Amino acid sequence: MKHVSVSLKENSYKIIVGHNILPKIGNQIKSLKIGDDAVVITNPLIKKLYGNVLAKSLKKSRISVKFFCVLDTEKSKSQKVAFDVIQKIAQHDVKKKIFVIALGGGVVGDLAGFVASIYKRGIPCIQVPTTFLAQTDSAIGGKVAIDLPAGKNLVGAFYQPKLVFSDVALLKTLSQRQVKNGLAEAVKYGVIKDKDLFGYIKRNSKKLLLRDLFALSHVVLKCSRIKADVVSKDEKEKKGIRTILNFGHTVGHAIEAASSYDRYQHGEAISIGMRVAGSIACTMGIFSQKNLRLIEDLLSEIGLPEKIKNVNVASMIKTMAHDKKNISKKNRFVLPRKVGQVCVMEGISLPLIQKTIKSYCA
Ligand SMILES: NC(=O)c1ccc[n+]([C@@H]2O[C@H](COP(=O)([O-])OP(=O)(O)OC[C@H]3O[C@@H](n4cnc5c(N)ncnc54)[C@H](O)[C@@H]3O)[C@@H](O)[C@H]2O)c1
Ligand SMILES: [Zn+2]
Repeated sequence: MKHVSVSLKENSYKIIVGHNILPKIGNQIKSLKIGDDAVVITNPLIKKLYGNVLAKSLKKSRISVKFFCVLDTEKSKSQKVAFDVIQKIAQHDVKKKIFVIALGGGVVGDLAGFVASIYKRGIPCIQVPTTFLAQTDSAIGGKVAIDLPAGKNLVGAFYQPKLVFSDVALLKTLSQRQVKNGLAEAVKYGVIKDKDLFGYIKRNSKKLLLRDLFALSHVVLKCSRIKADVVSKDEKEKKGIRTILNFGHTVGHAIEAASSYDRYQHGEAISIGMRVAGSIACTMGIFSQKNLRLIEDLLSEIGLPEKIKNVNVASMIKTMAHDKKNISKKNRFVLPRKVGQVCVMEGISLPLIQKTIKSYCA
């Protein structure tokens, strides 16, 4: 078991990373002294796979367990599901000291974190991420949200968990597509902050795709350190430091939105977004073709998409105009300078963006 600290004064917490550590979670939670009654928010698939191991460990530490399952779809990040879960928690919450455990990927993590943030003006939340994407990214940093018909993640908060507990052995049951999806975020961390991590992923891409537990632990730990460091410096994205985590996301989010969130998974969309951002940086003369090829080759080796298929470029551009990163009406891009270093640039010319996106369309 390895630890990473997220340092945020009274909101500080630990990220624990290891393999086959889920049976030990009870002790870890008990030592936090946050309550004796766990409400586990998850979905039926994950409950079937890991619910028993989690419940056994909690009960051994004399923590009571109640499971609430939501459907296995992004639609669970909705007002209706959030308030259904809250009603059920309220009925269950009699003479108890409850806290929430989010057992699942980013969907469960965002929903459960949101529920914990508003029930009784906030109850403690533990994140137990079960996807590669959630372990490297979404479970860390306290962004919790549900979606509205008008857009994704529009209702939410910054609400830090009390613990993130990442057991990479849980990733063994993930689909190959989900593993690739998580690797896209891991490549992002390499490009923005850590060329050694980038090199490690390159040398070990086959092992990672085969879910070698040692390689997965190494990558989850490195990504957790980077995210913890960035979040510790800029918890609420007010100093422009946290913005670098959005490398590849401006175009990535636009691809997801323009394809109605059902054709591209998040990691797939941002992998194309990273290619586009890299190419824009090359045209601007701040990034070399050689380095762009390095990134693109790695993404291709992993098996992430190379081209945007059947997505309307005009609607992508429209979505980008609403990007949350934009300030004072200017667009903002995170652009690479070399592998391991990025910068944030404003007011990139629209024709350049359009031309580059078009060059990545199939
Ligand atoms: N809060 C943040 O900072 C942040 C960052 C990035 C993404 N997100 C959000 O995360 C969500 C996407 O998360 P995701 O990619 O983890 O998708 P997800 O939560 O939908 O999980 C993907 C699929 O994998 C299954 N699954 C999960 N764990 C499994 C396991 N161990 N074995 C087998 N199957 C398993 C799930 O049931 C689901 O079908 C989006 O809603 C996105 O907005 C949030
Ligand atoms: Zn992301």
